[in-house]
Amino acid sequence: MKAGYSKMFYFMVGLILAVVAFTYLPVIFGISSTVKVVNLNVYSEKLREMLKQYPKKTIEIDKESDKGITFRIHNNNSHVQTVNVEKNPTKGGSSDNTKNTRSKTPKPTVKKEKDFDEEKKVLPTDKPVTPAPTPKKNNVLPDCSDKGSKLVGPLFIDQSIPKDMEAVEKDLSVDFGGTVEKGGKWAPTTCKPKHKVAIIIPYRKRFEQLKIFLRHMHPFLQRQELLYQIFVVEQLKNDPFNRAGLFNVGFVESLKMNKGFDCFIFTDVDLLPEDDHNYYGCPTSPRHMSVAVDKFNYRLPYATIFGGVGAFTKEDFQRINGFSNMFWGWGGEDDDLYTRITKVGFKLTRPSLKRGRYTMIRIHHFQSSKADPNRMNLLRNSGQRMSADGLNTLKYKLDKVDQQPLVTFVKIELKRSMYSK
Ligand SMILES: *[C@@H]1O[C@H](CO)[C@@H](O)[C@H](O)[C@H]1NC(C)=O
Repeated sequence: MKAGYSKMFYFMVGLILAVVAFTYLPVIFGISSTVKVVNLNVYSEKLREMLKQYPKKTIEIDKESDKGITFRIHNNNSHVQTVNVEKNPTKGGSSDNTKNTRSKTPKPTVKKEKDFDEEKKVLPTDKPVTPAPTPKKNNVLPDCSDKGSKLVGPLFIDQSIPKDMEAVEKDLSVDFGGTVEKGGKWAPTTCKPKHKVAIIIPYRKRFEQLKIFLRHMHPFLQRQELLYQIFVVEQLKNDPFNRAGLFNVGFVESLKMNKGFDCFIFTDVDLLPEDDHNYYGCPTSPRHMSVAVDKFNYRLPYATIFGGVGAFTKEDFQRINGFSNMFWGWGGEDDDLYTRITKVGFKLTRPSLKRGRYTMIRIHHFQSSKADPNRMNLLRNSGQRMSADGLNTLKYKLDKVDQQPLVTFVKIELKRSMYSK
């Protein structure tokens, strides 16, 4: 059944390409001069790009007309979106217009992104980060280059479980001669960091994963020469897990501790980047970073996904009013965020599939909350809700802020009852 569908799919695409080729080849060879010359290469490459982007079982060709081809994309089999590839490219290239069927999307302002690292090729090594020399107060430090001379490229992913947190602290914390300061802070001392980054992790009962995450991420972030601090926002008690709400709390609470944060990385605790050229600063914003997760065979499950790891500058996150607070349980909150991003006209950027590779920690992986049954209803009016659901309506009770050697725990109560009147 599935195999048949996929053959059919390729047949259709082949057919369309053939039609396009048939139509425009005469033009290319100068036989006809009435039709505008179309860059066929760009056109078909666009299609190829799309095929890579959307796994075939989630995409179907909706219609083909003089104007172009419309694909229907099925996200999780319920969130349908249309993508239009125009036939008449403007100025030497086709344009790709992605929009949600349920809301009008303004034209995004396209910021052309240059991957922070593309040209640099280094051999993978397992070298530990050289400890930072004694800090000297100096205002004439050079900027930390975002080319990252300390980067090593593809990384070894250690998924073994550290015996206890102290085993990890022994390698990294200042308490044991390392460089990470209390609360999970670090800053380069030989150059001026480009970004001051708050790493925010929503959390509940995943201590084994947290140990692995911290062991991997501290050296990773230090090689990128970022000033950073790692925050774990823990939802106490038993209400369904509210991942998005916890991100909002992390944003607010981290800024209370350090007004200087200008870049926020929102990440799950079980995602380990496999290449340190995947920059955890904010080279662009908003930016979806976990584009190629091993669990999804190193591909994007669907084009509008924003799950896993994402980056925002402070201003951009405030501009979209943060995440929604209304998703209780698994799923949907990231799709909602995607709509917010397109609604205000932001252009989402991503690292390449090569740089954006991730390992999902498999041990102790359980779904802590059931899927939110209300999520499809919420997704129907993401755009309308955004100004009255997010940072400006966030409610929670701070239990305590606990600065541990490698991480700052923000323990909070976040309950559904806080939101019902
Ligand atoms: C669809 O699946 C993706 C990937 O698991 C997830 O991030 C997203 O939240 C899901 N969306 C819905 C509406 O369930």
